[in-house]
Amino acid sequence: MWILMGISTYKYKKEIYIMAIRNIYVEGEEVLRKISKPVTEFNQKLWILLDDMAETMNRADGVGLAAPQVGILKRVVVIDVGEGLIELINPKIIGQKGSQIEAEGCLSCPGEYGKVKRPSWVSVQAQDRHGNEIVREGTGLLAVAFCHEIDHLDGKIFKDIAIEMLDVKSEE
Ligand code: NI
Repeated sequence: MWILMGISTYKYKKEIYIMAIRNIYVEGEEVLRKISKPVTEFNQKLWILLDDMAETMNRADGVGLAAPQVGILKRVVVIDVGEGLIELINPKIIGQKGSQIEAEGCLSCPGEYGKVKRPSWVSVQAQDRHGNEIVREGTGLLAVAFCHEIDHLDGKIFKDIAIEMLDVKSEE
């Protein structure tokens, strides 16, 4: 899946702000192991972070990105599994059903993949970029993405709970 957004701009304090690609932190960096703080201010600083995270995720060909992965310890997640961009602020899993075991990777663990057991259906309560309460539900890959990205906000990486890691080279 490739989504190339090009350069998008919008007015920011009378100046044109150009969306930026942020540096993705990789496993071993302490920031990935910390607990992120709730967002309390829904302002332009948050919107810039959200836009940059979406841009960074798309350019890296990822389907999800959490703020600690770009070095920001805030409870902010972006997801796009090919059904459009989802922004989640202060997300919480409020319901789950069933189970599925699928291969996962992470932009913070390049080249590594592992089988992880997740719920097959997940319901998430969160806020949108303006602070409005939202509920999103997902199955399949979207359910995986909700769980994987929310784990990042609590300092967890998929490898912590992987049933087994995959040797991708030998399987190709
Ligand atoms: Ni990840």
